[in-house]
Amino acid sequence: MHCIQALSFLASCAALAEAAKHQLIVGTFSTKFLYTVEYDDTAETLELVKTTPTDAASSWISFSHDKKNLYGTDWASKNPSFVSYSVSDASTLSFEARLESTSAWVGEKSVFVQASPAAPHAVYGSYFYGNAKCGTVMSVHVNGTLRAVVQDFAYADGSAVHGVAFSTADDDDARYLYSADDNGNSLWVHEIAQGAAAEGTLGTARQRVRWPETGAGPRHLVAHPAGAYVYAVLEGASQVAEVAVVAGSPPQLQPTGRTFPLLRDGDDKADFWADEVALSAPQGRYLWASSRARSTTRRGYISALEVDEATGELGRQLFLAETSSSGGFANAVAPSPFDDGLVALTDNSTGFVEVWRMDGGGAGAAVVAHLDIDDSQGCCANAVWYS
Ligand SMILES: *[C@@H]1O[C@H](CO)[C@@H](O)[C@H](O)[C@H]1NC(C)=O
Ligand SMILES: *[C@@H]1O[C@H](CO)[C@@H](O)[C@H](O)[C@H]1NC(C)=O
Repeated sequence: MHCIQALSFLASCAALAEAAKHQLIVGTFSTKFLYTVEYDDTAETLELVKTTPTDAASSWISFSHDKKNLYGTDWASKNPSFVSYSVSDASTLSFEARLESTSAWVGEKSVFVQASPAAPHAVYGSYFYGNAKCGTVMSVHVNGTLRAVVQDFAYADGSAVHGVAFSTADDDDARYLYSADDNGNSLWVHEIAQGAAAEGTLGTARQRVRWPETGAGPRHLVAHPAGAYVYAVLEGASQVAEVAVVAGSPPQLQPTGRTFPLLRDGDDKADFWADEVALSAPQGRYLWASSRARSTTRRGYISALEVDEATGELGRQLFLAETSSSGGFANAVAPSPFDDGLVALTDNSTGFVEVWRMDGGGAGAAVVAHLDIDDSQGCCANAVWYS
């Protein structure tokens, strides 16, 4: 008995030791590198373990459902395009493909890319600046490498979508695409055609929700896995907003009117541009959000809200804390996959990645690790956790 207990104690020690090191991949705005960073959660340190020269400056990166591929925008390319890398491990990334749409409505830059969690795992690209009213659907090979542009679809004149989300994160049930139309001050619902042959293409828009407040600017959104709520970050209003999903085919998005500030009393929202909203993992207990300051002499904000784990309804806003810097064009929060209270935050005003930890009671959060990556302000755009 004694012996078995000792053995299982050793086994759990080994599991803890193994779990202590985590890797992130970080993109850039203008320099052509991907950075692999290691976070040691015992020592609470961040270390640059690999610099991978690439052919793109990816202002936004995201993984395929199985993390075997990394997709990126190319912020610096003349023609907006999307790239894909195969991922053998966090430090072994190899460039595989670049796709470019032929639509005239892709504006000046590719700004967002997200793969569907559901087969056939199509990849959705968004554009910004100029006439960017289009979105692009891309198919992938069996191994996840980008294969071909299969559809360009238009939102509306004046639209420019900065982020999309799927109706649920559930592998088999991502049947609708929700889009945050920042320039068009709207949310959109599109139905994703089912079956492998459809390659993830979209039907005509099923709903456009014009945001009730002028200039609010929904920028990014995330759906709660239970499917009854979506949360949007409003770039212009610097708020997080709760949106109900009224069940049906198609579901209807309906802002509940509940918003939470990403700036303090007395701040002028014109001095800020809110950036990101993301659910914590592994339990989805919190909604993390961040805002950037337009001037590098000001600081941005980071915040977290309670989430009802069963329904997805938002609870209290736990805290609103100043970040270390303005965030530059970034200040993007990236929740870790292993601790609901832990997120990475990126900045390109001086170039760094940080890990922030919420304190036990949720009264605040603080920086526990900081890593400067000075590559002349290319770094750091957003970060994704590999493990
Ligand atoms: C993925 O599949 C495509 C198409 O078969 C192939 O060209 C490419 O080399 C594959 N990539 C990897 C990393 O195996
Ligand atoms: C951050 O990235 C943006 C976008 O490329 C760039 O305009 C800016 O100069 C960079 N640096 C700072 C200090 O914001």
